Amino acid sequence: MRIVLFGPPGAGKGTQARLLVERRQLRHVSTGIILRRAIREQTPVGQKAKLYMDEGKLVPGRLVRALAEEAISLVGNDHFILDGYPRTLEQAQWLTEYLNRHHVPLHAVVSLQVPEEVIVDRLSKRRVNKKTGENYHLDFSPPPPDVDPALIYRRQDDEPEAIRKRLEVYRRETEPLEAYFRAEGCLYPVRGVGEMDEVYERIEEVLRATEPV
Ligand code: AP5
Repeated sequence: MRIVLFGPPGAGKGTQARLLVERRQLRHVSTGIILRRAIREQTPVGQKAKLYMDEGKLVPGRLVRALAEEAISLVGNDHFILDGYPRTLEQAQWLTEYLNRHHVPLHAVVSLQVPEEVIVDRLSKRRVNKKTGENYHLDFSPPPPDVDPALIYRRQDDEPEAIRKRLEVYRRETEPLEAYFRAEGCLYPVRGVGEMDEVYERIEEVLRATEPV
């Protein structure tokens, strides 16, 4: 099974990817996670990427392409959930080229539909566990009491100005990819509002309908 989880910042891609990893043993390939790791490790790519990410801008495509293709190849070009890539038309074309070259087309692009006011609430109340990378929401899934509060932080790009910028970049650069994937016949819009498990069940329905037998 090869799927892309698509949607605006804060749509719940990372949250749903974690559930898909647990329940379907798929591998999570997230360019955001890969880039944040590169920043922590202060690699040359990480140092460049940080300048863009902190402000909510896209990292230059050629840097991300190499990271994404390497990560897809490391999971054996199959059984993956791609999260955060592609984000531009150019990246979508690179991905199609890569998958065609390896004869592994996508089964589905699941596009999470979430209104902007919900997104802003989710991102401004998101907190992350430094050690495990787990996401929390201060109201809906707060950090458990046994987690050391020193491990909990707010992402730099979840500050109000960066959220505004990320949404603007999404509308301009990324949202048009829905038309690209619709034309490819693999776009499945899914409502991303509601309990996390409800959203998961809607995604499952798509996967059951599209997975190979
Ligand atoms: P990335 O890490 O990919 O961020 P994003 O796409 O902006 O997505 P988020 O991680 O913010 O949100 P999400 O949809 O995963 O939501 P989550 O599950 O956390 O990218 C970060 C940056 O890296 C980019 O801005 C860019 O600079 C760079 N980058 C990455 N890929 C790139 C590329 N291909 N090209 C160029 N640059 C690239 O949920 C959000 C919150 O909501 C959480 O608190 C969660 O607990 C809560 N929540 C989730 N679901 C629900 C629910 N159903 N009900 C209530 N709360 C919920």
